[in-house]
Parts: sequence; structure tokens; C-alpha cells
Amino acid sequence: MLIQGGILMHRGGYTCGDDVDLAEDVHPNFVVMGSRVRIRTGTILFGSVGRPLTISDDVYVNAKCVLHGGAAQLIIGNRVTLAVGVAIHTDSGPNTSPLLQKDFPILAKDVAIEDDVWIGDYAVILPGVTIGHGSVIGAGTIVRRSVLAHTVVVGNPQKILRILEHAKLKCYACTPP
Ligand SMILES: CC(C)(COP(=O)(O)OP(=O)(O)OC[C@H]1O[C@@H](n2cnc3c(N)ncnc32)[C@H](O)[C@@H]1OP(=O)(O)O)[C@@H](O)C(=O)NCCC(=O)NCCS
Repeated sequence: MLIQGGILMHRGGYTCGDDVDLAEDVHPNFVVMGSRVRIRTGTILFGSVGRPLTISDDVYVNAKCVLHGGAAQLIIGNRVTLAVGVAIHTDSGPNTSPLLQKDFPILAKDVAIEDDVWIGDYAVILPGVTIGHGSVIGAGTIVRRSVLAHTVVVGNPQKILRILEHAKLKCYACTPP
């Protein structure tokens, strides 16, 4: 489904800019998208009435991702690439069990994926996390804590692999050293 500057109401519906390509089975629910966004098959996207999921310009979301906003704000920046099966959650908890909720109350916290971030296959981003500008998250990483700009993070528990100094020096968003 190729959409040019469209608005379509489907359940929560969505708005988008130009040149947006959604796979046939993708039904965004309370989502605001910019231009040149690509969403591949099997991906689930939702925000809520007061907190639409926001996807900026030039974003690529590969197959079978879950972008779970709504409980809190989820913002995806410009030029972000999400590989297959990435899960991003703004809330977490045992929804159906008041018993377990005594120990694990349902929490809802904003998540921000800043500009120029690349997230590898099957990474999981948990509530409250900000991934800083120009950072890379390795395949399979479980991200529980925020990641600074220009940082490569891998593994579970997450660890810093290195800082992308070269990118940092060229970064328009960073203060020159
Ligand atoms: C994070 C990543 C970009 C790092 O690449 P790199 O800088 O070339 O890293 P290297 O391959 O040199 O590995 C460096 C170390 O990090 C470890 N490492 C790399 N990626 C890892 C990952 N995803 N999880 C855990 N450890 C990882 C390596 O085992 C290695 O450890 P060692 O030095 O103890 O042997 C890459 O490994 C990755 O995960 N890319 C995502 C790939 C993907 O999902 N592609 C889908 C299509 S977009």
C-alpha cells in the first residue's frame, strides 16, 4: 500500500507524509508518520488517543517489529533503521494478574529513539529508555538502560562495545569538541 500525504482511519488510524510504503498487513493504530517511511510485513504499530506513536522521516522498520506506544510516549527519530523483530515497549507488567501486580506494578514510561539510530535483529527496548543520536544496538540486545549518543551497545546484560568517535566528530547535533 503506497500512500502519498494520506490519512486513513483504521481502528485508531494514522496520518503520514509523502512516499510512505506500508505492507498490506500493517494497520497502524494512532500513529503519526513523516515522509519516506517503510514498514514491512507483520509489524505492529500502536499509540493511543492522547499519545500517538510518532515516527519521523526516512525511517525503515523491517518485518515483525512491535512498536508498542500508547501507555506512554514513543518517539522514533529521523533516519532510524529497525531490523527484523525489534520490540519496543512503553509499558510492562503482568496485566492480567492482580496477584503479581503487587510485586510488579504495571509501569509506563516514555521511550525515545533519537535520529540516526540502527537497531539490530530481535533487540528489545524496555520502558523508560532513550537511545541517543547516532547509536547502534546489536542484534539480540536487551536494552534496560538509556544509551548515550554515538555508542555501540550489545548483549544481555547490555554493555558498551565502543564509542563512534568518528561519527561524533561529524555529528551536526553534537557540540564541537
Ligand atoms: C553491533 C554490531 C554492529 C557490531 O559490529 P562490529 O563492530 O563489527 O562488532 P564485531 O563483530 O567486531 O564484534 C566485536 C565484539 O562484540 C561482540 N558482539 C558483536 N555483536 C554482538 C551482539 N549483537 N551481541 C553480543 N555480542 C556482540 C562480538 O562477539 C565481539 O566480541 P569479542 O571481541 O569478545 O569476540 C553487530 O555485531 C550487530 O549486531 N549488527 C546488527 C546486525 C543485524 O541485526 N542485521 C540485520 C539487518 S539490518
